[in-house]
Amino acid sequence: MNTITRIAIFGSGNGTNAQRIAEYFASDSGVEITTIVSNKKDAYILQRAKNLGIPCTCFSRKDFLETDNVLNYLKERNIDYVVLAGFLWLVPQNLLAAFPSRIINIHPALLPKYGGKGMYGEHVHEAVIANGETQSGITIHFVDEHYDKGTNIFQATCEVLPDDTPESLAQKIHKLEYEHFPRVIEQVVKQNKL
Ligand code: GAR
Repeated sequence: MNTITRIAIFGSGNGTNAQRIAEYFASDSGVEITTIVSNKKDAYILQRAKNLGIPCTCFSRKDFLETDNVLNYLKERNIDYVVLAGFLWLVPQNLLAAFPSRIINIHPALLPKYGGKGMYGEHVHEAVIANGETQSGITIHFVDEHYDKGTNIFQATCEVLPDDTPESLAQKIHKLEYEHFPRVIEQVVKQNKL
């Protein structure tokens, strides 16, 4: 039996969550961040992977959407879970079918509000502030074929103050993400092992 849970992290940007997750599990012999995958060859997440000594790679849009190249890459590495940490493309059907309830996303708002195509990173925080919300937060959820629509696993909230800017709100959201995302991933993978 496979006693190590192998996780692939997908990301398109800076990769601070990926780094936080990798550091969290570094001392856990039961969970391995086996690879970090990006869709952008110049994304800083790939540099972070190299700094952390984690294998990493980049796939093109064609690889993702028109081939089994990504699926085969994950299968060859016996990946159990895919974690989306700032990954901006819709996950294709071949991956959804291969990883049922095993693809986890984090979204920087309280879904179902402020989700959907184009709602990522600072765009989310700008919309939250423009609408005068007094609360925002994070949602960790399983991924399905729609943007930001799968079953919720966990939410946490923070206040939006009148003087908050998209940047200051992003900082609050990141703090929540770093605090909860690794812990929630751990709960999901360990519960499924019981
Ligand atoms: C995170 O805030 C994450 O919630 C968000 O992108 C940021 C990535 O930051 N994801 C989305 O907006 C997905 N719709 P990071 O690259 O520094 O971890």
